[in-house]
Amino acid sequence: MENPFRFGTIVEEEYFTDRVEEVAYIKQFLKSANHLVLISPRRFGKSSVVAKAVKESGRKHITVNLQQTTSVPDLSAKLLKEFFKVHPLERVRHLITHFRVIPTVSTNPVTGSMDVSFQPNVDGTVLIEDVLTLIERAHSSKDRMIVVLDEFQEIREIAPKLDKQLRSIMQEQNHINYVLLGSQESMMTDIFENKKSPFYHFGELMRLGKLPRKDFHKYLSERLMDVFPKSYETLSDSILDYTGCHPYYSQQLAANVWQTGVLNPDSEDPLDEAVDHIVKSHGLDYERLWMNLKRTNRWILQRLASEKPLQSGEYRTSTIYSALKRLQKDGYVIYADRYELEDPFFKQWIVNEME
Ligand SMILES: Nc1ncnc2c1ncn2[C@@H]1O[C@H](COP(=O)(O)OP(=O)(O)OP(=O)(O)O)[C@@H](O)[C@H]1O
Ligand SMILES: [Mg+2]
Repeated sequence: MENPFRFGTIVEEEYFTDRVEEVAYIKQFLKSANHLVLISPRRFGKSSVVAKAVKESGRKHITVNLQQTTSVPDLSAKLLKEFFKVHPLERVRHLITHFRVIPTVSTNPVTGSMDVSFQPNVDGTVLIEDVLTLIERAHSSKDRMIVVLDEFQEIREIAPKLDKQLRSIMQEQNHINYVLLGSQESMMTDIFENKKSPFYHFGELMRLGKLPRKDFHKYLSERLMDVFPKSYETLSDSILDYTGCHPYYSQQLAANVWQTGVLNPDSEDPLDEAVDHIVKSHGLDYERLWMNLKRTNRWILQRLASEKPLQSGEYRTSTIYSALKRLQKDGYVIYADRYELEDPFFKQWIVNEME
C-alpha cells in the first residue's frame, strides 16, 4: 500500500485539497492586466495553489524558482528554457534575432531535454531584458503569458539592483501577467510594501492562510479510514490539533501516523508514536540549530515552546522584541494571532530537552 499523504513537494490532483476560493480568485484575477503577489508563511501551499490555478486557466505559462538561480545569466537562461517549452524554438526563431547575445541551445544526450545557457561572463542586464522582451513580443494583450517567479524574495540576493532593473522592464510590458510568490518571514513584505523599494505596490497583494479545518479533516479521515477503521475521525482531530492545521506539518504527521498504523497495528497511541518518530529523526538537525542559537533566542524559544509568557522580567521588552523579529525572519517563529514556533516538532524537541 502506498502512503496516501504527500509533503515537501508541490501537491496536485488527489493530494491537493480545498483552496477552492483561492484558485477561483487567482484565475479570475489573471484575466485582468494586473500582477499578483502571493505571500504566506513558509509551506502553507503557495506554490501548489498557484500551480493549480495557472494550469486550470488554460493559458500559456512559465515558472522559475529564484531560489535555484545563481546569477542573472542563469535566471535569463532558465526563463528562456521554460519559454521554449511553451513556444518551440523553430516557431519563434525570428523573434530571437534581436538578441544582443545569442544563447547556446543544446539537447542533453542523456535525458533528451533541452539545455539553454549564456556565457557566464556576459552582461546580465542585456540578457534579462532581451528575454523578457521576447516573451512580451510573442504574446498580445488578448493572449497574455503568465510568468510565475517563485521565492521572489531571492531577487535581492541574485544581483544588486536587479529588482530596480526588472521593475523598469516589467512596467513597460502589457502582454504578461506576473505572479510573484514568497514567504512572509522573508523580505517579501519589505519588497512590496516599502515605499523605497522598486516593487512598491507592483501588484495585488494576496495572503494565503492555513487550510480550513473542516475540509482538511475530511481529507485526512478519508485516507486514514482503511488503516484505523475505528479511530480515524478522532485521529484526524488530534493531528490537526497538534499542527494547528498547518498544511505541510499536518500532511507530514498524517503520513507518519498512517505508517505507524501499517507497521504496528496494535499501537496504543499511534499519534504519539508518530510524533516521537519525527522528532527523533530530526534530532540531529535540531541539535545543530540549537547550538548555533544565541542564549536570548534559546530562552525565547523555550518560553514559546512551553507556552509561557515572554514578559517575565528576565529580559527587557526591547531585547525580546528585536530577538523575536530576528527569529521570525529566520523562520523559527511565526506570527498568526500570537507568536508561536513554526515547526511543531522542533517545539516538541525543545520541550523534551527541557524535561
Ligand atoms: N491544498 C493543499 N492540500 C493538501 N496539502 C497541501 C495543500 N497545499 C499545501 N499542502 C501541503 O503543504 C506542503 C507545502 O506546499 P507548497 O510547497 O505548495 O507550499 P509553499 O508555501 O510554496 O512552501 P515554501 O514556503 O516551502 O515554498 C505540500 O507538500 C503539502 O504537504
Ligand atoms: Mg513554494
